[in-house]
Amino acid sequence: MSRRILTVFGTRPEAIKLFPLVHALKADSRFDSRVCVSAQHRGMLDQVLEIAGITPDHDLDLMRPGQSLDALTAALLTGLGAVMDEEKPEWVVVQGDTATAMAGALAAYYRKIPVAHVEAGLRSGNIHHPWPEEVNRKVIGTIAALHCAPTETAAEALRRENVDTGTIHVTGNTVIDALHWVTARIEREPGLAAGLAELERRFAGKRIVGVTSHRRENFGEGMERIAQAIQLLAAQPDLAIIFPVHLNPNVRSVMNERLAGLDNVALIEPLDYPHFARLLDICHLMLTDSGGVQEEAPALGKPVLVMRETTERPEGVAAGTAELVGTDPGRIVSEATRLLRDEPAYARMAKAHNPFGDGKSASRIAELLATA
Ligand code: UD1
Ligand code: UDP
Repeated sequence: MSRRILTVFGTRPEAIKLFPLVHALKADSRFDSRVCVSAQHRGMLDQVLEIAGITPDHDLDLMRPGQSLDALTAALLTGLGAVMDEEKPEWVVVQGDTATAMAGALAAYYRKIPVAHVEAGLRSGNIHHPWPEEVNRKVIGTIAALHCAPTETAAEALRRENVDTGTIHVTGNTVIDALHWVTARIEREPGLAAGLAELERRFAGKRIVGVTSHRRENFGEGMERIAQAIQLLAAQPDLAIIFPVHLNPNVRSVMNERLAGLDNVALIEPLDYPHFARLLDICHLMLTDSGGVQEEAPALGKPVLVMRETTERPEGVAAGTAELVGTDPGRIVSEATRLLRDEPAYARMAKAHNPFGDGKSASRIAELLATA
């Protein structure tokens, strides 16, 4: 009898980090794999489902414009619970720290279904940074029966919280599997990532800085400061900024108001995954407050300046692939400029070893799910 696994996700980064596992489960006769998307994100989720070729068995279609955390969480809990009642899975898989992941784990716990947590053990140590993700991941960590930690540092954080050591496994981060998969697809079908060609021509001869930003704790003042930093960087004639803007209205309103129409700045719609991989490839460095980008950019040898005060991914900073620069415009601009002018410092960051995985995480997690 194959083991029924229900994989639950709802946002762009969860979809990217879970599609390699969904592919692995589907290809393995030991599993009866079901997929439920909450669609906490809509457009940005669908971009990933399309490229990964995943048709969910359940789609709760929960995204509402400007959704509040409490309304979203309530809808997630009842919606996901009903799917679990129907599917009766032996395991529920969640990833990371979103509202969908937290509610998915809680709904499974209410039904005494064991939960596997992919990307377990990330901790910043501050429940307000990132907010509300730090608490979401702690809730999931309390519930999970299988903790797939991306690194030894993450596994150690779980041991410090007295999680049963037999349930903690270091698997690497599935985002590296996803990046390898999409890079191989692009090699076979270059047209999948050809849509940046016009921008590449427009910015020929300039060094490209890729930017992403969406963290809730940066809304308001933090976003204003990030926009100011980009304005200042764009005044350097040999630089160009490519900024795919997150669909969250709290991000778009500030960035559109401050940055639209600047010569050296391309504010563009969220890129699908092949095009984002292409941006990582053509950029000189990434400025970001994203979690996933901190893990992916080093795999392509691109330094990351993290526009946050803390990170739950200290491995990148320790390995030298990332630097925390906060949201102070002066600091962002001086660190970016230093890196762009100081070739040895740039080379040290670009060549540092990526600590986040080897691209084989999904098969390790599938093995764990087969035998747990
Ligand atoms: C969510 C996650 C965050 C994750 C991020 C990845 C929570 C609480 N937050 O943040 O952990 O890092 O996703 O991007 O789970 N929107 C669209 N279309 C989309 C996606 C979003 O229009 O495809 C707009 C909607 O107005 C939506 C808003 O963005 O209401 C916010 O979406 P939400 O999922 O609540 O939060 P994010 O900031 O995206
Ligand atoms: N990403 C993408 N298109 C974009 C921006 C990001 O495909 O325009 C991908 C990126 O490769 C990474 C993920 O989205 O894998 C990160 O998502 P996000 O920054 O929204 O969330 P976080 O990782 O911070 O939770």
